[in-house]
Amino acid sequence: MKALITGITGFAGSHLAELLLEENIEVFGTMRPRSPMENLTSGVQKQINLVECELRDNVAVRHTIKTVKPDAVFHLAAQSFVPTSWGSPEDTIMNNIICQLNIFEAVKDTGLTDTKIQIACSSEEYGMVYENEVPIRETNPLRPLSPYAVSKVSQDMMGYQYFMSYGLNVIRTRAFNHTGPRRGEIFVASTFAKQIASIEKGIQEPSIKVGNLGAKRDFTDVRDTVRAYYMSVLKAEPGEVYNIATNKTITIQELLDRLLALTDKDIEVKTDPARLRPSDVPILLGNYDRLRDRVGWEPRIPFDKTLEDLLNYWRERV
Ligand code: GDD
Repeated sequence: MKALITGITGFAGSHLAELLLEENIEVFGTMRPRSPMENLTSGVQKQINLVECELRDNVAVRHTIKTVKPDAVFHLAAQSFVPTSWGSPEDTIMNNIICQLNIFEAVKDTGLTDTKIQIACSSEEYGMVYENEVPIRETNPLRPLSPYAVSKVSQDMMGYQYFMSYGLNVIRTRAFNHTGPRRGEIFVASTFAKQIASIEKGIQEPSIKVGNLGAKRDFTDVRDTVRAYYMSVLKAEPGEVYNIATNKTITIQELLDRLLALTDKDIEVKTDPARLRPSDVPILLGNYDRLRDRVGWEPRIPFDKTLEDLLNYWRERV
């Protein structure tokens, strides 16, 4: 199998590249000249084929797809941070929708009728979820609460439309929150872990800045998430949509407490108003029966192990 990963230098992309190499798959990945490379170890960099491609440029995307002729595309590249989408909604919406459109058009026009395209949709699409709707099934109404979520609803619906209109083998995965080593420092578990590591090193006062601790989220380890992406491409039904979740939820307060339990430092917790959002998704708790029944995926890595690995990742870096 020849696989093309968009966003290979990113958090999930780098973990997926490692998994596919272990499976002896030929890996190609798109990057931009300014993409930071530190998520890809030198060993991985030697084994993959990096292609410079600006996904907003339909000519560049067409050229990449025509040249690589992938059997599978994992479309992970995106503006993925919810708060950024409040600041520049146009950029998030343009970027996330147009890049995917360019990929779909290129696969269609190149005539790659057998190519599978996994698209990284999101639990954020469910948005305003009521307590009586959890655990959330794929059939739940989508009530997006941020420009980012709107962009993901659009990607999701575009996946459905290209499957129905042209028979493109699109597999829509709605990943719930995922974290682990290499997670960007702006996301919740990573910003907390990095601050704890900085406090341990004495480069930050023993005070941690936080946002809304009342939100509830369903966290998967990123290494389980990318395994779900891979298994979906092998076994999921094109046109269909699948939750990637654990069927468990924790409050952000609990997440913070579990990280704080991993350090012997005494740390004060301070709300930073800049970390609060115009609206926050109150609860995400996903039912993943469809994915388990169809592809045989189950989460494997316990969340405490994920948090420990994440904190150790930051301890080695700050
Ligand atoms: N980032 C951040 N920083 N979030 C905080 C903080 C903080 O200091 N304090 C509390 N939170 C809360 C947020 O308000 C939110 O309720 C929750 O922690 C998770 O925030 P993020 O880690 O930024 O992730 P997200 O839930 O907004 O979105 C992530 O998950 C989606 C899937 O559900 C991203 O990975 C998205 O790309 C992904 O689609």
